[in-house]
Amino acid sequence: MSDHAETPQKPTGLNRHAILERSATLLLVAAFLVVTIGGIIEIVPLFYLQNTIEEVEGVRPYSPLELTGREIYIREGCYVCHSQMVRPMRDEVERYGHYSLAAESMYDHPFQWGSKRTGPDLARVGGRYSDAWHVDHLIDPQSVVPTSIMPNYDFLLRRRIDGEHIEDLLATQRFVGVPYDDDMLEMAQADLAAQADPFGDTGVLDRYPGAQQRNFDGQPELTEMDALIAYLQVLGTMVDFSTFTADDSR
Ligand code: HEC
Repeated sequence: MSDHAETPQKPTGLNRHAILERSATLLLVAAFLVVTIGGIIEIVPLFYLQNTIEEVEGVRPYSPLELTGREIYIREGCYVCHSQMVRPMRDEVERYGHYSLAAESMYDHPFQWGSKRTGPDLARVGGRYSDAWHVDHLIDPQSVVPTSIMPNYDFLLRRRIDGEHIEDLLATQRFVGVPYDDDMLEMAQADLAAQADPFGDTGVLDRYPGAQQRNFDGQPELTEMDALIAYLQVLGTMVDFSTFTADDSR
């Protein structure tokens, strides 16, 4: 039988930790020190990294029209029912496409990853449906998906936009790190209208390579519907996944 419990040994050699284990205060102080040092070692290097996001070809800042659509998406609370992040799991990748890359939301302020999927993930919805489908769906979701519980957004078709504050919005995005240049700011209002006009010629496609230019809602007026659909149609389309290969060496 051991008599350790009854007669505490004098802490010597390997037994020295007994000092800590017998004093709650000392243990607390030591634990605090260990956690602090560990925390510093983990966190401090992050401040010295130039970038924690691997840049990926094709990802560009949103065009003024797309950015306006994004504002409407946020205003209407679409994120309450829709996420924008395909997780790297087989069921998700088979349903939605390639898993989301960090770079794909690097210009999203704030990001729209979301945490609730009442409706499907929208990170790769761009190009999946026609503009006309989106118009019908947003006016009356049940008209195209009879069992849908998504609300109607028909009023978007009647709300005109003229980009009055779009330059300020771009400037604000630039302030938080999105690389809009002076030219983009200056041309923002003209570019906004030009992207929704098949004959619009402001150089919008040079400034935002790969942007889609057409009348998104099918009616002559420039409306919030144009902006929202322009945004939905660009989601997940900036990176060309037929040529993309993840760099695993990092
Ligand atoms: C109350 C929850 C809810 C809200 C809010 C909501 N949706 Fe939905 N959404 C759904 C559901 C459920 C579906 C699946 C049925 C359907 O297609 O209508 C869906 C489907 C969609 C789809 C088709 C996706 C696909 O891959 O088939 C798009 C696009 C979409 N929503 C966009 C939006 C936009 C844009 C907004 C904001 C203006 C919005 N939703 C707001 C619930 C919602």
